[in-house]
Amino acid sequence: MRIAVFILVIESVYVSSATPSQQKSFHGHKVLDILPRTESELKSILNLIEEYELDVWYEPKNLNDSLHVHVEPEKLGQVLSHLKKLGSEVKVWIENVQKLIDGSFTPEDNLQRRVIMQRSLNLNKTYYNYSEIMTYLDYVQENARGVHVSQQVIGQSVKGRDLRVLKVSRSSNSAKKAIIIDGGIHAREWISLASVIWMMDKLVFNPRNDPDVKKLLKKFDFYLIPVLNPDGYEFSRTNDRLWRKNRRINSGSNCVGVDLNRNFDYKWNPNRGGSRNPCSTVYSGTRALSEPESAALASFINSLMGVDNGGRVQAYLNIHSYGQYWLYPWGFTTAYPVDRLDLDNLAQVAVTAIQKVNGKRFTVGSSRNVLYLAAGGSDDYAKGSAGVKYSYTLELRDTGAYGFVLPEKQILPACEETWAGVKAFALALAKS
Ligand SMILES: *[C@@H]1O[C@H](CO)[C@@H](O)[C@H](O)[C@H]1NC(C)=O
Ligand SMILES: *[C@@H]1O[C@H](CO)[C@@H](O)[C@H](O)[C@H]1NC(C)=O
Ligand SMILES: *[C@@H]1O[C@H](CO)[C@@H](O)[C@H](O)[C@H]1NC(C)=O
Ligand SMILES: [Zn+2]
Repeated sequence: MRIAVFILVIESVYVSSATPSQQKSFHGHKVLDILPRTESELKSILNLIEEYELDVWYEPKNLNDSLHVHVEPEKLGQVLSHLKKLGSEVKVWIENVQKLIDGSFTPEDNLQRRVIMQRSLNLNKTYYNYSEIMTYLDYVQENARGVHVSQQVIGQSVKGRDLRVLKVSRSSNSAKKAIIIDGGIHAREWISLASVIWMMDKLVFNPRNDPDVKKLLKKFDFYLIPVLNPDGYEFSRTNDRLWRKNRRINSGSNCVGVDLNRNFDYKWNPNRGGSRNPCSTVYSGTRALSEPESAALASFINSLMGVDNGGRVQAYLNIHSYGQYWLYPWGFTTAYPVDRLDLDNLAQVAVTAIQKVNGKRFTVGSSRNVLYLAAGGSDDYAKGSAGVKYSYTLELRDTGAYGFVLPEKQILPACEETWAGVKAFALALAKS
């Protein structure tokens, strides 16, 4: 009879909502590894990237750190010859992007990936779609015992999908200090959404087994936003696995989408790590907060920081992949915030905890790095504009072997280590 209780919906065959012909193929696409040795060389490489509208996978954090860039087959010859002229050190990092994508789903799980359990999703096995995640939020709310869960819609995406926040607290109407965590601001970073769902699960269903969770809920209210960019996420699932932006139709251009993490209203500047070109993967938008998704998050953070709420938000975590970093502001300038040491200390606590789980090393630093500025990020906004002291960007697994296409097999270890880091961070914050 357990079957009747737990497994309610079984679809034996996995049917994607997109026909195969809608799925963009990445056969022959490569990711190059380029090692810029000087700032001026990097500048030339970035110009080339802008000119050819290439997709940067990984930005170098220091000199002697590589840049990973995805190049379509039709651009490869020309790009390589330009790089040769610059004298850059280049190697092929990923030979065939399509092969990487195909290998990211575990075949045995593929057969069962549409099995939904009423009790909970197979959180640790598969990446779920937007509607499944929303169903799960409802499930969490209805089945929470001993903790209070409520949901709030803070806005709609360009295509009208709800942007939901799930609040986890010890009691209803709780107005404790708050921690906001969001995932999926960049569509293709699937592990980021999975990790936020995982945290939600641990916060709601684990307080009885985990004294740390109990402690945290005594001190904080958690606000979790698992899918900040639902249109982009769905598009990355059905049409283009490597989609990053939202799905804004840009007027006067055939190119779709704005990079939400270049669109926030603190020192917004397309010339700093963003772009004025709608065809760029880092298009900053026509103006700051032009997008409903970024505007909704900004006003949500502000509402919790406003006079009525007495500046409740102590921490904001903006979750991305990849690179294994725990970063603090600023992204827009090479300067550090005045309270840098405070931010650094808690980040060190987090990465130490992460390393204990599976041995993965995360690097602590400021989003700005010697080489690469990026203005308009939500972490800069939370700190600079809204006044949230502990504002961070997390870059989860890996360091580039799979990049954005982290296999489903790694969901479990990635979520476990991330949760350990977030928990250690929040416990340290509670004491600070
Ligand atoms: C999401 O997954 C469910 C199966 O769990 C499926 O029925 C639904 O069509 C999917 N939604 C989209 C938009 O693909
Ligand atoms: C870069 O690497 C080279 C050789 O590995 C080393 O000599 C140089 O100091 C490094 N530069 C920086 C900025 O780390
Ligand atoms: C993975 O998820 C399944 C289903 O929710 C659960 O039975 C299993 O214990 C989980 N594994 C771990 C290691 O958490
Ligand atoms: Zn990202």
